[in-house]
Amino acid sequence: MFPGDIPEFRGLFKAPSMRGTDKRPSPDFVKAYMHNGVFKSLKDVVHFYNKRNIAADTSGKEIAFDLRKGPPAGYTALFPPPEVLENVQNVAGVTPAQATTATESNGQVGNLQLSSQQEDDLVNFLKVDSDMVHSIAWRKRLLIKPGKETMPGRPTTHN
Ligand code: HEM
Repeated sequence: MFPGDIPEFRGLFKAPSMRGTDKRPSPDFVKAYMHNGVFKSLKDVVHFYNKRNIAADTSGKEIAFDLRKGPPAGYTALFPPPEVLENVQNVAGVTPAQATTATESNGQVGNLQLSSQQEDDLVNFLKVDSDMVHSIAWRKRLLIKPGKETMPGRPTTHN
């Protein structure tokens, strides 16, 4: 039985804060992400958001599919099916470019079209220790002096 099997629990999982999401008691401590601990690394989580709606054939060719219909013959989904379908955004698996405002195709999750390098970049961003960035010393370092930008929109540090 999964939490999603209990009707009263459906839709109760709020989007959590990403602050300090890579924090662990020791470097070798393995974390478990999401409500059921299914993912053991941030790379797993980001890969899931990127490719939830992707299936592959034996040669590794990838195709996007609708979670309501399942992958086409000859293709295996990269992830197990959702516990609950009714509140899944972008259940159709369209790309962000094809997104509409309708829940079934709003393009936020499942087929983000990110390369592995872009996934890694996002993971590295999530690993930035946000508590350090919020410390007074870092705030001072990140302050932008008017007229001192190195290029438009790019802050320079105080000397
Ligand atoms: C690429 C963009 C995203 C990234 C990198 C991301 C990252 C994460 C991470 C790391 C977690 C696990 C937190 C933990 O276990 O403590 C999480 C969970 C969650 N996120 Fe996202 N997220 C993204 C997009 C979204 C979007 C678009 C939504 C809402 C539409 C969303 C809603 C949630 C919810 C509800 C959970 C809790 C799920 C559960 O506990 O099973 N996320 N996300």
